[in-house]
Amino acid sequence: MESLLLRPNGPLKGIVHAGGAKNSALKLMAATLLAEGSHVLRNVPQITDVAIMAEVLEALGAKVSTQGSTLTIVVPATEDLVAEAPYELVEQMRASIVVLGPLLARCGRARVSLPGGDDIGSRPIDIHVDGLAKLGVSFRTQHGYVEGSVSEGGLVGQNIVLEYPSHTATDNLLMAAVLAKGTSVIDNAAREPEVEDLAIMLNKMGAKISGLGSSRLVIEGVEQLTPTDHAVIPDRVVAATYLLAAAISGGSVTIADGRPDHMEMLLAKLGVMGADVSMTPEGLRLDAPERLLASDVATLPYPGVATDYKPLIVAALSVAEGVSIVSENLFEGRFRYIDELRRMGADIRTEGHHAVIRGVPSLSGAPVRAPDIRAGAALVLAGLVAEGSTEISGIEHIDRGYEAIERRLSALGASVERRS
Ligand code: EPU
Repeated sequence: MESLLLRPNGPLKGIVHAGGAKNSALKLMAATLLAEGSHVLRNVPQITDVAIMAEVLEALGAKVSTQGSTLTIVVPATEDLVAEAPYELVEQMRASIVVLGPLLARCGRARVSLPGGDDIGSRPIDIHVDGLAKLGVSFRTQHGYVEGSVSEGGLVGQNIVLEYPSHTATDNLLMAAVLAKGTSVIDNAAREPEVEDLAIMLNKMGAKISGLGSSRLVIEGVEQLTPTDHAVIPDRVVAATYLLAAAISGGSVTIADGRPDHMEMLLAKLGVMGADVSMTPEGLRLDAPERLLASDVATLPYPGVATDYKPLIVAALSVAEGVSIVSENLFEGRFRYIDELRRMGADIRTEGHHAVIRGVPSLSGAPVRAPDIRAGAALVLAGLVAEGSTEISGIEHIDRGYEAIERRLSALGASVERRS
């Protein structure tokens, strides 16, 4: 099992690329299933989750080839698609559920293993299923699989109001509605930039989606889509990770491909924490104060502060001046890494979905375990400044969402080494 070994090495300085967004790339890969032929995706991050999604697509009958950050995906004719995503793959990555919409739209049926729980709380798929049922899919669940079949008349456009703006449910509904007969409206849709990126690519494939980036998406169904060539937007959570690495270490880091318009609320919070954030000709730059200031943060669906930023913010606030309250409003279990931060000397008390963080002057290095992607990244941030050495195990979680994290941090001056 590999681990990351970190030692404090002063303020981080320099320029780094975030690379393509995981949560966009995975959906764009699924979206290729909607059209027979050869698709090209650029700026795809080289991370484990992308490799798993490539395996999912291959299990469904597509051919995926990778050249650096460019993927070519060849999708077969409908009769050669396999409408079943197996347990062995879905179990490794919940996001595989986004093949449900495209498979139903293309094949008229789909059998997808039910994603299990993971370390960030129970995450049902009722919003996906209810929305797709409205479009004309009947579902049953058996042997751990959700099985959907489209009624004889095919998918039919409908008005759907989401009970909650679920990110992947919006993705699934968009990918089903683009090939439905007539017009669909998705109200209370997720507004994440990655959902918008998906809609942009679908439109390039010939879909007719309007209201992009808003909570009301209007989709006029079309008969057929065609392959396209699309570049994935930069990863705002990876960008946030390097900005917070600068913030916690008192440094200054520029994200060459940073998109401030995708992370406005976070940047505002970083300002409250005393950082100076600016757009420069080189990219999105953060200059940290000598010591960060406390700030209260509550996670909310986009454009609120993303739940994915939260562990990173908690790590930074654990050494800030003053007391902060951080509230998690999306996922129930997303506080588990706090025990690990406490073992590093952080003073954090949790109460329900709130965490009270009393900033301490310094953390102390310890062996810790990464419970999920973002929590793992939070432990990396803590390890950048903790006295002594911090050895993080469970880094396969970090590799799911971060490309070459140790190389990029080293280039910014961090002392970090991968050990096997
Ligand atoms: N929910 C339901 N029923 C559903 C769907 C969601 O109750 O059918 C609940 C969930 O249990 C959760 C809340 O709604 O409490 C939010 O879930 P959402 O569906 O919006 O999240 P997701 O689509 O499963 C995506 C990202 C997550 C990110 C969230 C929030 C992907 C592959 N995953 O998950 O990213 O945290 O949106 O923005 O896009 C990550 O990258 O590490 C990650 C977890």
